Amino acid sequence: MTLVNLDAKIGDVSAPRPTKERPYLVPREPVYFARPSASYRARHVEIDAAIQRVLDGHVYIMGDEVKAFEEEFAAFTGAAYAIGVANGTDALHLSLRALGIGAGDEVITTAHTAVATAAAIEMAGATPVFVDIDLATFGLDPSKVEAAITPKTRAILPVHLYGHPVDMGPLLELATKYNLEIVEDCAQAHGAMWSGRQVGTIGRVGCFSLYPTKNLGALGDGGIIVTSDAKLAEKLRLLRQYGWRDRQLSEIPGFNSRLDEVQAAVLRVKLRYLAQDNAKRRKIAQRYNNAFVDLPMITPSVQPGCEAVYHLYVIRTRNRDQLKAWLAQQDIIAGIHYPLPVHHHPAYSERFGATKLPAAESLSDQILSLPMYPELTNQQIERVIDGVRRFHQAAAAD
Ligand SMILES: Cc1ncc(COP(=O)(O)O)c(C=O)c1O
Repeated sequence: MTLVNLDAKIGDVSAPRPTKERPYLVPREPVYFARPSASYRARHVEIDAAIQRVLDGHVYIMGDEVKAFEEEFAAFTGAAYAIGVANGTDALHLSLRALGIGAGDEVITTAHTAVATAAAIEMAGATPVFVDIDLATFGLDPSKVEAAITPKTRAILPVHLYGHPVDMGPLLELATKYNLEIVEDCAQAHGAMWSGRQVGTIGRVGCFSLYPTKNLGALGDGGIIVTSDAKLAEKLRLLRQYGWRDRQLSEIPGFNSRLDEVQAAVLRVKLRYLAQDNAKRRKIAQRYNNAFVDLPMITPSVQPGCEAVYHLYVIRTRNRDQLKAWLAQQDIIAGIHYPLPVHHHPAYSERFGATKLPAAESLSDQILSLPMYPELTNQQIERVIDGVRRFHQAAAAD
């Protein structure tokens, strides 16, 4: 039996201390679909030292840590340049602007993504054009893209969702044929590979979120853009800080979208472990795949020529809501990415709701993100496997 201190929430340090008269055992901690604090705990000595280094210095914004992180991240991806920004939404927004994309332009993308993808297109002043997805990759269906191209189309914006690369070959061909830019949304795919190349380096520009839950996550907001185009990199550097090359002189109208030194210092530590952490995610995914092979649900697959990094482990099942509720009873907190395709959100439905996207629309009530992060323990993985299997046993017995 698990004894629970009824006065305490997990992590609540102000809760009454145990006494002889009122002893308690720490309640079993739930298993969450993502747990950024586990990543901090795993490297806390190095992270604490990195933060202290910044605190002891004199520059807290746009100093040596940001510069070093940019160089190290560029080297990691194989791109020539990396530009740190305030978040992943800005990475997309500023990239579109740097490419001269704005009012009157159309950008082809997916509706099965974080709202941020569409929001960034609108922040640039352009119009998103939603195209359906390929259920094998959960990304843009390349066979549907050409029909959506109009004289106003300026870019294709594929999202490497859940850590699986989009099928980029046909998109590259279309980009050449119609003279379009490719802006990759890599917010969920740090380190994923397509045809031997890292995502973000396949199109003209790659945009990463460094939000805490991401495969490479800060302790707050952050984003980074990679490109091998020197002129574009220069423009992005201007755009992220009021158009400044030299302080206080605005050469072009810009924004405030800076990455700070504390985040960069933390990210430098975490970047050193990214490849190893991605490998751990792949191992966990393999364990799940093996354990669920005989169950009536669809597990994620990896397409030929791709290396996925399992930002999320998303299964599809008709009993999604029941499975989610059952798991919650076992303290296993699954997620839904995403409960609604973007064009069905109130902010977009009036303008885009009429677009028919059968594959994307079919997913909303089927998908479930099971716990997936590198620090999951064997015991936690077993709890998830056991919970999912027992749900199906109980359903079969009904
Ligand atoms: C696919 C996708 N694109 C863009 C973003 C935006 O990133 P951020 O939250 O750092 O602005 C996210 C993160 O939520 C995302 O998952």
